[in-house]
Amino acid sequence: MIVVFGSINLDLVTEVAAIPRPGETVLGPGYAKIPGGKGANQALAARRAGARVALVGATGRDDFAEAALALLAADDVDLTGVARVEAPTGAAFIAVDARGENAIVVASGANAFARADGLAAVPLGPNDTLLLQRETPDAENLAAARRAKAAGARVVLNLAPAGALSEAWLRTLDVLVLNEHEAAALGAATGVGSAPDAVARAIDARHGVACVVTLGAEGAIAWTGGVRREAPAPTIEVVDTTGAGDAFVGAFAAALDHGLHIGGALLRGVAAGGLACTRHGAQTSLPRAPEIEALALKIGAADLIRG
Ligand code: RIB
Repeated sequence: MIVVFGSINLDLVTEVAAIPRPGETVLGPGYAKIPGGKGANQALAARRAGARVALVGATGRDDFAEAALALLAADDVDLTGVARVEAPTGAAFIAVDARGENAIVVASGANAFARADGLAAVPLGPNDTLLLQRETPDAENLAAARRAKAAGARVVLNLAPAGALSEAWLRTLDVLVLNEHEAAALGAATGVGSAPDAVARAIDARHGVACVVTLGAEGAIAWTGGVRREAPAPTIEVVDTTGAGDAFVGAFAAALDHGLHIGGALLRGVAAGGLACTRHGAQTSLPRAPEIEALALKIGAADLIRG
């Protein structure tokens, strides 16, 4: 089983010709309310990829909460660990430009009150995976990671939004997932340079933590146990990149949870991320297992599929 401790947002999405620069106002035709939040997105992505999933986090007691949780409930994600607190449900303000690129501002709201104690609702064991991001309080994320580690579960952190990683974090992690920007920021902070390969290799070699870096149109790479793995990206027509990273992480974690090797998990991650780019919105774009498998088979080498 995968337990996600993370954020739950309602995304307010506007299409714009170009992302506004600082001080600039741009107009969009209207807006859509779409369930989002990196934690919630990754929970649904893993569920749609075939895993059993529970989400632990917090929403307010407002109308946004029901809208934010609707797709998770429809797909049977266990929501017993979602607390209702006296703060507005998290919201994200998203502008998507004509090329499908986005700019996102998150108002944390109830996510700031997510507590690792909520994991008591969904006990973790050695066959389980805890999946974390950085839109909930860092101290609570670390407490959740330590709790899962003590229970023998696998701990996966998606370092998004970008940030530093303490020794305490590195001692607790099994897998770290970064995008290029997060890898560059981490590499600069640790003195290994900004190249994704060098960062992932150093995390693996120095800390014994498997490290994955997603590279957009270049696919993804991973270093684990001194071995480099890679997966190419599918050729796709990009409509909206919102949630593509979450689709990758959810499908990747689901594959690991299913017992696949990291190479096979990478391939499913890039397939899911690519599919998510071809549709609008965060949770509305997340693919299901059959299409992920079909695309992974199309783009992947046979040894990765067996991995
Ligand atoms: O990763 C995409 C997500 O980031 C959006 O759904 C938004 O809510 C923010 O958390």
